[in-house]
This record gives sequence, structure tokens and C-alpha cells, in this order.
Amino acid sequence: MSKIAILGAMEEEIEPIIAKLEGKKEHKYANNTYYEGRYAGKEVVVAYSKIGKVFASLTAATLIERFGCEKLLFSGVAGAINPQLQIGDLIIADKLCQHDLDITAFGHPDGFVPGGAVFVPTTDTLVTLGREVAKQKGITVKSGTIATGDQFIADPERKAWIEKTFNADALEMEGASVAVVCDALGVEFFILRAISDAADMGANFDFDAFLEKSAKVSADFILEMVQKLDG
Ligand code: ADE
Repeated sequence: MSKIAILGAMEEEIEPIIAKLEGKKEHKYANNTYYEGRYAGKEVVVAYSKIGKVFASLTAATLIERFGCEKLLFSGVAGAINPQLQIGDLIIADKLCQHDLDITAFGHPDGFVPGGAVFVPTTDTLVTLGREVAKQKGITVKSGTIATGDQFIADPERKAWIEKTFNADALEMEGASVAVVCDALGVEFFILRAISDAADMGANFDFDAFLEKSAKVSADFILEMVQKLDG
């Protein structure tokens, strides 16, 4: 039976999943904790990486190379770019890019370095499964482009630049790095985000108030996908 990795960045994103594991075992490795167990009869390994592309890449590679996971599902929150996305709505990434990867000084497009690609597509079969789960739950889930960078975006100008440059629907801080790792290692992957904010808030926006609620929406959806995955 193939092992499934479930990854998030923050404790709030992953704790609702860890809480539901059966026969849970904890492994300490590379300054992090990996939770191995079963959910709906499937073997899963769950971790939160800490925020940002470097920690997310390390954790994704560890889940694959050390724990032998053959599929990876990412759960978490994102800032909305597309005005159709409201707080609490879900978005499935069909492709991801790194908005802060910049060697334009050498004539390359934003988000591109030689040997890479601006956009990394996610696995079609998992996107299809995600749409089926949404249909069964009777909810509308958008799919689109997610832009990733090592910056919390709370600035309308930066948000507008990311929208214009990558035609992105949402933004966050890990997805594209996980996509690069999974693509390079030949592992099927799925990136789901629930909207926590509009990436342009003023100082009095309470991010934490929406984080927990939206993180739970995403975690519940991911657990339903695990149930429906083949062995
Ligand atoms: N994740 C959730 N909201 C975000 C934002 N505004 N910027 C970056 N990552 C996020």
C-alpha cells in the first residue's frame, strides 16, 4: 500500500489532521516532528514544515525520501487575489509559480531560472479527485494558479503586481517549492488552500482570527480526499 504524505506549513493547518490519526507514532528528524499513522485504512505521514519555501522543500523531500511517501497532499491557507475568492473558500492549484524568484537582471522572465519553468503543474488525477470530493460535498471549489514567495503579502501594490505578472488567483508561501520537489522526484501531488485574507489588509486586520477557521476547512477536505484515494 502506498504511503500518503500530508503537509502544511503551520501547526494550525496540520493539527486537525494529526488529531485524527490512528496508531500515531512520532519521529523526530531534521529539526522537525513527523507523525506516522493511519487514516481511513491508509498509511499516512503528516508534518508541518514551518513557514516558507526552504522549510517546505526540506519537509516535502524528507516525506518522500526518508518516509517513502508516494503521493503528497498539501493543506493550508492563502491570500486571495481573484475577487471571486472569499474568506473560507477553497482553491485547488492547477499550477504554481514563485513570484519572488527574480533574475530579470539577466533578461529572464519573472519566476524563471535556467533549468526550471515559471509554472509547475499539479497532478491531473488528484485535481479531478478534488473536484469530485467538492461535488459530493455540494461546494464550489475554484481551481487556478497559486503564486508562492517568502513574503507575507499585505500590500495592494505587490498583490496587483503578482496578479498582473502571473495571472495568479491566490498567493501563499510554500506551494510552488513543494511542487518543484514533487515534480523532480516523480511524486503525485495536490495543493489545496482555504482563503484566510485578501493579501491587502491594513494593520487592524486580524489574520489569526481567520487562520484557524480556514485551516480547518482545508484540513477537513484533505481528509475526505485521503478516504477516496486508491490504496
Ligand atoms: N497565506 C495566507 N495569507 C497570506 C498572505 N497574505 N501572504 C502570503 N501568504 C499567505
